Amino acid sequence: MIAVWGAGRVGLRVSPLNSFNDMRDSDPIGLFTWLAKRLNDYSLAYLHVMRGDFANQQHGDVLIPIREQYEGILIANMGYTPEEASAAIGAGMVDAVAFGTLFLANPDLPTRIRRGGPYNTPDPSTFYTPGAKGYNDYPFLPA
Ligand SMILES: Cc1cc2nc3c(=O)[nH]c(=O)nc-3n(C[C@H](O)[C@H](O)[C@H](O)COP(=O)(O)O)c2cc1C
Repeated sequence: MIAVWGAGRVGLRVSPLNSFNDMRDSDPIGLFTWLAKRLNDYSLAYLHVMRGDFANQQHGDVLIPIREQYEGILIANMGYTPEEASAAIGAGMVDAVAFGTLFLANPDLPTRIRRGGPYNTPDPSTFYTPGAKGYNDYPFLPA
């Protein structure tokens, strides 16, 4: 990828703690902290880290050790509110935060964040399902 596009156009997304589909490691934080250090050799556009576990089985703070070892742009994800994201960026813990389900449910999320809300509530019963429901039918804010 880097050979084709250049390192500045390649990012890497990892989910160290996520045990979804039985993905496990005996030492996920140690493993991904090691990986983060090695990634310094590649000058990627960013490293994007999902900080938690969908199945809520593997716990721990993976962002602090990765931040200590990784010298590039660090993007965090999972379970952030806009307020926590702003605080984490302000404190220098991460460079940016990505929103998943909040973006699924709010097609105009940047506008809503700028206005301080309100936010549509994501409906998990429509995740991973076919059809328009829960895909492109969440309402925009009135103009
Ligand atoms: C319907 C759905 C599909 C997802 N698909 C993927 C995927 O293909 N690859 C991936 O790395 N994460 C996937 N995720 C995880 C999200 O990228 C994100 O990490 C997760 O929703 C946690 O962030 P949030 O709390 O902001 O929603 C998916 C999440 C949802 C709800």
